[in-house]
Amino acid sequence: MTTFWSTYISVLTLGSLIGLTWLLLGTRKGQSSNTTDQTMGHSFDGIEEYDNPLPKWWFWLFVGTLAFGVGYLILYPGLGNWKGILPGYENGWTQVNEWQREMDKADAKFGPIFAKYAAMPVEEVAKDPQALKMGSRLFASNCSVCHGSDAKGAYGFPNLTDKDWRWGGEPETIKASIMNGRHGVMPGWATVIGEQGVADVAAFVLTGLDGRSLPEGAKADPAKGKEIFASNCVACHGPEGKGTPAMGAPNLTHPQAFIYGSSFAQLQQTIRYGRQGQMPAQAEIQGNDKVHLLAAYVYSLSQDQTPETVTAK
Ligand code: HEC
Ligand code: HEC
Repeated sequence: MTTFWSTYISVLTLGSLIGLTWLLLGTRKGQSSNTTDQTMGHSFDGIEEYDNPLPKWWFWLFVGTLAFGVGYLILYPGLGNWKGILPGYENGWTQVNEWQREMDKADAKFGPIFAKYAAMPVEEVAKDPQALKMGSRLFASNCSVCHGSDAKGAYGFPNLTDKDWRWGGEPETIKASIMNGRHGVMPGWATVIGEQGVADVAAFVLTGLDGRSLPEGAKADPAKGKEIFASNCVACHGPEGKGTPAMGAPNLTHPQAFIYGSSFAQLQQTIRYGRQGQMPAQAEIQGNDKVHLLAAYVYSLSQDQTPETVTAK
């Protein structure tokens, strides 16, 4: 704040305080201290006013308020550039300083705990109840918006409690997914294989890879779809459609883990236009130590499950 505004605010504030004090004492002068029946002599619509002193409690409340104001302005920043003399706040008490102090306190308290876990392998951390509790809180506030509070995913967001990993379920791979984020790129095929081709290859995924049967009346030929798959899809999804974690291409033989739906119509939609799932990188937001705990928590979620126990979405 410039000196001008600092002075302006100080003069205005102190001036008001002095003015109010003067008003309070000035109106009290010359008044009898006894309650009387005497009125001021004027009448507004029949309402008259007694000529009585201010009630004592009111007077002292006013004095107290003024004293509080003066005390506050000495301790806290309120008068322009005056920072206040509150002990322990050399730079003055402000919300920002207060927040910073609390963060520093939390870092001092939890920093060593985070550091202890960060030095342990993810699998070990995943066996520590205290670490898992901390991990689950971090998950609830940072990840559940997308992956769900039970981590079971939602449309467009993968289930993290099953053994179907798009990018791999090794502890360090999970950590890399969280740290650096992931971007799955499935190209759209409408212009390459045509609308009939999309239907045929979707029919092949449904019947040939997933072992389900086509909805009645579907105009699609799984045999033709198989050929299309062999020439266009195996590069990413693998010769048996079991996926390639290095590129985030999912296993197409586990329809229960599909995040964009597994019905005939949804499959065609995915294949026609492609998909671009994006997992936001957490390195900058959370830092290594918190991501380490998150990785351990996520890893722990899938440890007692097999793909068969996972229910379809
Ligand atoms: C360039 C590599 C690549 C090619 C080629 C490719 N895919 Fe994909 N596919 C992916 C990736 C990566 C994903 C995951 C996209 C995401 O996570 O958003 C995916 C997702 C899918 C899904 C959705 C799975 C789900 O979770 O809902 C289906 C179905 C699919 N692909 C089928 C096909 C078919 C059929 C072809 C051939 C016509 C094909 N893909 C060709 C990389 C590829
Ligand atoms: C904005 C939504 C969003 C948020 C927030 C989010 N994720 Fe994700 N996450 C995704 C999407 C989408 C994918 C799938 C990416 C793809 O298509 O391959 C994913 C993928 C993952 C994967 C890889 C799964 C696999 O099958 O390989 C892990 C692990 C993961 N997220 C953990 C987390 C954790 C832990 C957090 C919290 C720090 C988090 N995510 C926050 C959207 C999100």
